Amino acid sequence: MYVENSSAPARKPVTVPGLHAMKAEGRKIVMLTAYDASFAAQVEHAGVDIALVGDSLGMVVQGQRSTLPVTLEQMVYHTTMVARGLSATLLAADMPFMADRDVSYALEAGARLVGEAGAAMVKIEGAAPHILESIHALTERAIPVCAHLGLTPQSVHKFGGYKVQGRADAAERVLSEALAVQQAGASILVLEGVPSPLGERVTRALDIPVIGIGAGPQCDGQVLVVYDMLGITPGKRPKFSKDFLAGRGSVGEAIAAYVADVRSGAFPSAEHGYN
Ligand code: KIV
Repeated sequence: MYVENSSAPARKPVTVPGLHAMKAEGRKIVMLTAYDASFAAQVEHAGVDIALVGDSLGMVVQGQRSTLPVTLEQMVYHTTMVARGLSATLLAADMPFMADRDVSYALEAGARLVGEAGAAMVKIEGAAPHILESIHALTERAIPVCAHLGLTPQSVHKFGGYKVQGRADAAERVLSEALAVQQAGASILVLEGVPSPLGERVTRALDIPVIGIGAGPQCDGQVLVVYDMLGITPGKRPKFSKDFLAGRGSVGEAIAAYVADVRSGAFPSAEHGYN
């Protein structure tokens, strides 16, 4: 049974300006996915800055082969549950595949995730012109946006698999996309599956915080899928992840260790990155 943890220490709520201050002060930002209230309470208690209801739930919760079948209805459902487990941790929710098909649908989806489900930020993949328009329109209506570039899982068919992006000539494209999403109004950027030197370049070039997943240790923060970092995702663990539950006694301890290692810079190490 889910019981709210009333013994959790009070923390100041995490805000978008607070995340920007963390980047300016060189304090690492910790982000982790959650899909229900019980995991959200663990994430909250461990002091994670941002809980992400990722459409990765399609793969790790629903057992689908990609994130593409996840619907807006399902994102609203999971975001509502996660919101009940949080108090200070900032809640971000993914825009599912095709929620960015046009600006008016993106606004509708953003309004549901924020107004109905309780998210404080929505995440949107890519930097195509219609995405930049949606980022701008959402931001103008006071819905903060987390952009997502590099290995964007909703583009799995275009990429021909879950492959590292931004190698060689493609690095310049990722860098210019990052500048474009910042210019469009994104509040933070998730950068996934790119060589570590590119992760560092993008992080230095942007004023907004860059949260890496397989993008090297120099990013302003890190994000992982919670089931990956607990070692319970079926199949081979991604190179960029680490089993934080190994040798520890509880989910709470594993998440606390992840928080401590991201804050100190101990995670990720070179073995979790790409060249
Ligand atoms: O869907 C998700 O969980 C994500 C993270 C991996 C960043 O997009």
